[in-house]
Amino acid sequence: MTSQPAAVGFIGWRGMVGSVLMDRLRAEDDFAQLDPVFFSTSNAGGAAPSVDGAGDPGVLQDAHDLEALSTLPILVTTQGGDYTKAVHGELRKNGWDGIWIDAASTLRMNDDAVIVLDPVNRDVVDAALDRGVKDFVGGNCTVSCMLMGLGGLFRNELVEWATSMTYQAASGGGARHMREVIQQFGDIHASVADPLADPASAILDIDRAVLAKQRGGELDTTQFGVPLSGSLIPWIDADLGNGQSREEWKAEAETNKILGRSGDRTIPVDGLCVRIAAMRSHSQALTVKLREEVPVAEIERLLDADNEWATVVPNTKEDSMRDLTPVAASGSLQIPVGRIRTMSMGPQYISAFTVGDQLLWGAAEPVRRMLKIATGTL
Ligand code: HSE
Repeated sequence: MTSQPAAVGFIGWRGMVGSVLMDRLRAEDDFAQLDPVFFSTSNAGGAAPSVDGAGDPGVLQDAHDLEALSTLPILVTTQGGDYTKAVHGELRKNGWDGIWIDAASTLRMNDDAVIVLDPVNRDVVDAALDRGVKDFVGGNCTVSCMLMGLGGLFRNELVEWATSMTYQAASGGGARHMREVIQQFGDIHASVADPLADPASAILDIDRAVLAKQRGGELDTTQFGVPLSGSLIPWIDADLGNGQSREEWKAEAETNKILGRSGDRTIPVDGLCVRIAAMRSHSQALTVKLREEVPVAEIERLLDADNEWATVVPNTKEDSMRDLTPVAASGSLQIPVGRIRTMSMGPQYISAFTVGDQLLWGAAEPVRRMLKIATGTL
């Protein structure tokens, strides 16, 4: 424990990821060891949030005031990539050499930035701090949740390659995307509420009406571009022009960067990323080619033992339906991993399914923990 509370600037603390971060900091009583300064991009001079143990909250500082930002040894931003682009480079150009902890993807793949997921890569984070790295960035939510669940296989050098087919929640797009999904469900329901309430109505008539609603151009699709509720979108993020989406590219690039692997130690990780109408937990179905045959019971033991959050769900229908869903995982730091079995392709091929709250391990929690590492309290 540090004796003096660490001075830390927070930017973007009111947004969705920022709010989850604030909740976690409060829940863990982290503010008792911090001297926070809150910034705002739109409300400088307004009242800062009060936090237990942190004394007088004072007023919000201007998040674009480089001088004010520069007085702090640590800045934590959940404001988003545009803010990082606008401010980070300028601060560094002006000589600020504090620790920048960021949830946005902007700096992730920079050579002098480390992707933080300490239950999986504490060694990489510690080595980076030792050699003076100053930029620490949370990983892509799908990658972080996958590595939290399957960390035991990677740590034990068992993965020859992996494919990940994702089922990503609306929250990955942002708060407005979550609202849009619920609104679409509501509007679809409203369009068939009467026949739905009548048990004698024909389901194919209801189905036709739902489809007409989805295709009719009346649903609000401002965020996703097409209806998501009652459908799915098999593309996430930019088109890289080679048949792959940017989200799919991140799987291999970020997994290996998190693990500190490159060159001929790179582990191929690829698959398709799909948006579904879940709220805030991302799921993914994996096929893993193991480097050697390992009994399923041993795989389960390795996964469960790897970190305190990975939780093996027995591969039964009952357990999978109850514990291996976005509904079960949301709001929890546990990362359930199940459906583990040897596949018909051969004894070295196993399946797995993981679910993780995209706003916790996928966004706020690695950032919160990095702050604790940077302040010497983890
Ligand atoms: N790119 C992710 C998604 C967001 O769209 O689901 C979290 O990194």
